[in-house]
Amino acid sequence: MKNVKKAIIPAAGLGTRFLPATKAMPKEMLPIVDKPTIQYIVEEAIESGIEDIIIVTGKGKRAIEDHFDKNFELEDNLIHKEKYDLLEKVNATSNVEIHFIRQKEPKGLGHAVWCARKFIGDEPFAVLLGDDIVRADKPCLRQLMDQYEETLSSVIGVQKVKDEETHRYGIIDPLQQNGRRYQVNTFVEKPERGSAPSNLAIMGRYVLNPEIFLFLDKQEKGAGGEVQLTDAIQKLNEIQRVFAFDFEGKRYDVGEKLGFVMTTLELALERENLRDNILGYMRELVGDSMVKS
Ligand code: UTP
Repeated sequence: MKNVKKAIIPAAGLGTRFLPATKAMPKEMLPIVDKPTIQYIVEEAIESGIEDIIIVTGKGKRAIEDHFDKNFELEDNLIHKEKYDLLEKVNATSNVEIHFIRQKEPKGLGHAVWCARKFIGDEPFAVLLGDDIVRADKPCLRQLMDQYEETLSSVIGVQKVKDEETHRYGIIDPLQQNGRRYQVNTFVEKPERGSAPSNLAIMGRYVLNPEIFLFLDKQEKGAGGEVQLTDAIQKLNEIQRVFAFDFEGKRYDVGEKLGFVMTTLELALERENLRDNILGYMRELVGDSMVKS
C-alpha cells in the first residue's frame, strides 16, 4: 500500500473577494492575527504527517515563496537579540520540504491541481485549500488520511452547511452512511439555489488517488467556465469508489470577508495578551451590555 506523503496547496487564484488588498498581495498571505492563512494550512499538513508539499502559485505570489524561504538576515538578527521565541515562530515550518510550481493562468481549481501532476506521479496525495482553516483535536487532513488507509479509496472532507448556503459549495448526494463516512452517488459543484441534493458541503480537504489525473488531463470546463476539481472527482467516482467524510472540528471560512474578520476576532480573543484590550474596545464601540467578559 502506498501511503499519503505529498500534498498540493493551490494558491494561484485571483482572490477577488479581497480586492483591493489582493491586488499586489496574495490572499493566502493575509494574516489571521500574526500568521498568514497559508501557514495554518502548511502546519495542518505537517501535523498530519505530510512530508512534501507543493504550493501552486501564480502571478503576483512571490511573497508566498519568500515566506517559506530561509531568511538568514532575520534569523541572525533574532539570535543576536536573543529573541528565541520569535526565532521558533519564524522556523515553524522548516521541517518539511516545500516546493513551488506556477499555474500560468487561473483556469480553476482542477487546473491548479493538474499543474502539480508530475510532482505527484503515481501516488495518492492530499489537497488542502487555504479558504478553510480547521481546528480539531486530530488534524482534519489526518482524519481523512486514516480513512484512506482503511479504504484505499479517495476521501473528500465534508461538513454540513445551512440550506441557504449550499449554492456556494461543492455538494454531495450521499448514498449510504457508515458512522461519519458516506458512500456518494454524485458530487455537484455549486448547485443552483434550492436544487442541492443535501447540505453536506466539500470543505477544502481531499485525499485523492492518482487516477484523478485521467480526468483532469481532459481540462473540461464546468461551473463558472473553470476546470472544476469536483467534476473530476465525480468522474473518478464513476470508475472507483470515492468516499466523503464528515470530519470533526471547527471550520473557519477565511476565504470571504465576514468569515475572515470573525476568525481573526475569535483567535485574537484566545490570546491572553490581547483579550482584555479587545473586549474593552468592543464595549467602547457597542456598549457594555452587548459584550460579555
Ligand atoms: P477560490 O475560488 O476560493 O479562490 O479557490 P480565488 O479564486 O482566489 O478567490 P476569489 O473567489 O476570487 O475571491 C479556492 C482555492 O483554489 C486556488 C485559490 O488560490 C484558492 O486557494 N485556485 C483557484 C487556484 O490555485 N487556481 C485557480 O485557477 C483557482
